[in-house]
Formats: sequence, structure tokens, C-alpha cells
Amino acid sequence: MNPSGGLRWHWRAWRSAALWSPTSTQIGHWLASVQPSAKHLLLLGPSAGWMLPTAWLLRFESIHAIDIDPAARFLFGWRHGPALKAAGIRWHYQTGDALTALPRLLTAHPRACVLLDNLLGQLRFHAPPWQDPMLFTSLQLADIKRLLQGREWGSVHDLLSGPTHGLPPEQDFPAARHSVVTHGAEPQADVAWLAAAKPQGEWLDHLTDQLFPGGTPVQDMAWAFSPNYWHWLQAGWVQPVTFLANAAPEPTHEHIAWRQLPLLQNTFAFDHPGTES
Ligand SMILES: C[S@@+](CC[C@H](N)C(=O)[O-])C[C@H]1O[C@@H](n2cnc3c(N)ncnc32)[C@H](O)[C@@H]1O
Repeated sequence: MNPSGGLRWHWRAWRSAALWSPTSTQIGHWLASVQPSAKHLLLLGPSAGWMLPTAWLLRFESIHAIDIDPAARFLFGWRHGPALKAAGIRWHYQTGDALTALPRLLTAHPRACVLLDNLLGQLRFHAPPWQDPMLFTSLQLADIKRLLQGREWGSVHDLLSGPTHGLPPEQDFPAARHSVVTHGAEPQADVAWLAAAKPQGEWLDHLTDQLFPGGTPVQDMAWAFSPNYWHWLQAGWVQPVTFLANAAPEPTHEHIAWRQLPLLQNTFAFDHPGTES
């Protein structure tokens, strides 16, 4: 069974279009702001592209998508195929493990940029039973980052998810929050933008907080997966680094693990009776 896709995902995504639309709109705005110079796209784990705007796909000359879910390519074709065909964009959808195939795909498409489309937050659920999910995820992420060095690439993925009291009718959906990744900086427990959803209880760490290199501009988005279970998504786009012969070396920062940040404690704080509406 696919723990992060499959028919249950498609059913939920189709049924939740209205609930998810503020997040889909924010993803659309983020993608519109991403202007890759590459004309070819490797799209990893897009499912049917339920939250992916067709308009962004139309900027490419060719697209190679891959997802482990065998139903995904038919549904992707149903949703995006006619527009891609009308625009003369060559596209191919492969069923398979994107992470195993990544080295071969990068060799086969040397000038393509890469979008990991809400895939990495689920890595921890794909850990084999004999391996610690935390170790599995960090090894996979390190491999992916190494393979993608020198590429234009981006990812949208879960950072955290957990129970909420839900958005009161009078509250606007939380706006996307823009920042720049600063590993090693003083932790900033800035969860005010997410507070409208009234997070409560314990939130799940998706173990993706160390993905983007320092200096990457990122967009944080709330996603009402269900009215009372929300995700904190992060999207970022990485440009290849150009090394200058005489450039001074970057200072090395000490690694600060996500779980050292006061964030989870703050989400617990939302559960305080005084914060209930
Ligand atoms: C949360 S869904 C993403 C949905 C997509 N962003 C959308 O808009 O519909 C995660 C997707 O990643 C796929 N996936 C998970 N691990 C994968 C892997 N190793 N290789 C390829 N696809 C994978 C799942 O099959 C699923 O379709």
C-alpha cells in the first residue's frame, strides 16, 4: 500500500478541492514567482497534480513526471493533458520510484529543472520497518541534495502537521509567509501567521526542516488538510551556486535540529484553555 498516495489520496483531493483552494492558490502564486531558466521539467511525485496549476506547466517545452502511484498518470492526463497537448508541450508520465530513478533521470535530462511536488514530507512514512524514520529521512534528503547540486530545483513539502480547532468563520485563511532560510540563526518561534487555525496538541515533525540551503527564499503556507487537521507546508526554489575563484569561504554554522526549536512548545501553548474561542 502507498502510504502517501493511491486511490484514497485521489478521492480526498477531489472531494477537498474547495477546502484546499486557498492553499492551491498560494502554491500557484509561489510557482508563478519562480522563473526557472530551464525549458525542461522533471516533476517528482505530482500525483494527478491536484494542487498544481496547469498554467505553470505551460512554461516548459517538455515535462517528465514520475510517481509510484499507477493511477496518477491517468488522472494527471485527465487534469492537465488537454492543455499541455494544445500548447504543444511534450510530456511523459512514468510510474516508478522517483528517488531510486533520480540519478538516471538527471543523466537523461541534463538541462531540466526539478520540482519535488509535495513528496518529501511523506518520506518518513516510507521508511522500511527495520529503519528509524528519522535516520531514513535524513539519509534520503542528504542524497537528494547531493544529486541536485548544480541544478535549478524546488520543493513544496510538509514541515509539520497536526490537530487544530479549525478556522472560525470570521477569520481569514492565514496568508503565506515569506522568509529566507537561516540555519544556525537564533530560532524564531514565529507561528503567529498560523495561529488563526488554533493549533492544539502534538504536531508531527515531517523531518524536512534542513532541506533547503541557507539563503534560500521560502514561502510557508497553511493547508487545511481537513477542517481539524492542518499542515504547515514550505516551498522553496534553489538556484545553482556559482563559485567565484577568490570568494571567501562561507562561515560554517552549527546545525540546529528542528526539535530544539521552541516551535513545538509554542504549538502546545496554543492548547492552553485561555486561547480557546
Ligand atoms: C501528498 S501526494 C502529492 C500530491 C500532489 N502534489 C498533488 O498536487 O496532487 C504525494 C505523492 O508522492 C508520491 N510518492 C511518494 N513517494 C514517492 C516516490 N518515492 N517516488 C515517486 N512518487 C512518490 C505518492 O504516490 C503521492 O502521489
